[in-house]
Amino acid sequence: MKVKKKKEVEEVCLLEPVKDPFGLVIFGASGDLTRQKLIPALYNLYHNRLLPDNFFIVGAARSRFTDNGYRDVLKETLKGKDLWDEFSRHVFYTQIEYSDASSFVSLQRRIKTLERRFATEGNRLFYLAVPPQITAQIVEMLGAGGMNKVRGWKRIVVEKPFGWDLASARDLNGVLHRYFTEDEIFRIDHYLGKETVQDILLFRFANSIFEPIWNRNFIDHVQITAAETVGVGKRAGYYDKAGVIRDMFQNHIFQLMSLIAMEPPAVFDPARIREEKVKVFRSVRQITRAEIPEYIVFGQYIQGEVDGTVVPGYRDEEGVRKDSHTPTFAAMKIHVDNWRWQGVPFYLRSGKRLKRRVTEVSIHFKPVPHSIFRHQLSEEIAPNVLVFRIQPDEAIELSFQTKMPGTRLCFREVNMNFSYRQQGFYLPEAYERVLMDCLRGDHLIFVGQEGVEKAWEFFTPVLEFLDKGKKLIFHIHDYRAGTWGPLEAEEFIRRDGRYWWVN
Ligand code: BG6
Repeated sequence: MKVKKKKEVEEVCLLEPVKDPFGLVIFGASGDLTRQKLIPALYNLYHNRLLPDNFFIVGAARSRFTDNGYRDVLKETLKGKDLWDEFSRHVFYTQIEYSDASSFVSLQRRIKTLERRFATEGNRLFYLAVPPQITAQIVEMLGAGGMNKVRGWKRIVVEKPFGWDLASARDLNGVLHRYFTEDEIFRIDHYLGKETVQDILLFRFANSIFEPIWNRNFIDHVQITAAETVGVGKRAGYYDKAGVIRDMFQNHIFQLMSLIAMEPPAVFDPARIREEKVKVFRSVRQITRAEIPEYIVFGQYIQGEVDGTVVPGYRDEEGVRKDSHTPTFAAMKIHVDNWRWQGVPFYLRSGKRLKRRVTEVSIHFKPVPHSIFRHQLSEEIAPNVLVFRIQPDEAIELSFQTKMPGTRLCFREVNMNFSYRQQGFYLPEAYERVLMDCLRGDHLIFVGQEGVEKAWEFFTPVLEFLDKGKKLIFHIHDYRAGTWGPLEAEEFIRRDGRYWWVN
């Protein structure tokens, strides 16, 4: 059997350049996402010669800017970048009212002019970097204005959260399908664009030693933590309505969970992978409203210290309601009811203003069935843990026991560690990968219609429970910014005889 050498692999695996010329229309162009993530990612792709010669980007939003005014705003984020002037000649801006059909007529005119000027062969990518409440409206306007009728290919990218709940996600899918086929729709979950997240699949299905033990016979439980040190920043208008469940659990955390839990598909193909993930979502045991206090702990941060700086509590953040009950933290336990995972709980946790920024999945194996050292050791032997560190310090680690040198029998837990950065790998920003794949029409890292709806279905009782409003006050626990969340979350896992791995 031929196995490729390291150098050969590196050459083959470099990001493939986008070949087709294109026009990219970004709705929500004056927002943070466009400024902080999309434009820097596009710039990096340009800088690394991954974009074709013929392309243009037109930003559309409510704010008023001239093309040059808009470029100046973007330049702030890309200070000192050597190719900025060259890149910015591809960037334009059109002011738009999302509810006004005549705005879309002007936009269409602008796009047509740019298409001629840049010879983009009519290929259009629409990127909706807007709050979910106006996504459907924009799609309707695009359709009504005939902007989806193009000479080349057309694609549409929808940011998360996709819809606001199950009903709105279904409606949105309905509207999208009126004007775009499923193949033309790209539902983004930028976590899937992270190299370390994609590596979970390769790790599981390209190594023969782990798959046989990847089940209830060997695994005690799984933990997923996505901890952030940042607060809501300038996004209170969105976040105070969304909360941590819509913002992190329904999408990022559930996607991570499905990659860990899914069965191997017969072939490595986007549609087959989506199918397997959907099967996982179907198997997640529904938590009823009555069971929520038993399975989920919610928290909201109060004033505290993060990285040596005193930061305000959530309710004192600009734009947050003073009596807000929006959770900024949640810890929950779920069960995946199938043969592989029966009896193996998944503990999921995410929050803002926590002690440290870290996203990690840890697989906790069962303890040894019988300790031959029980007469010599006072403590239990710590079970093996396999960790996928998604960020920062991207790594895969396996902990195991070794003997401390010396005459006494003492154990020491050590790690086998694979660190992406120490190996010198360039890890592209998730948005670089996401944009590349939309432009190349590759669906691997995007979420399908059924997947998104199933995830909403699971969270519907939770969201209804949260939307009950004021009565919730007893269920949302305060936690000091800069800690690991409310003490109740510690107690929650300790009740099961376990503890949070990341702390
Ligand atoms: C976004 C959420 O999807 O993910 C944000 O809306 C969150 O609230 C962000 O901060 C986290 O992404 P990352 O890549 O920094 O872990």
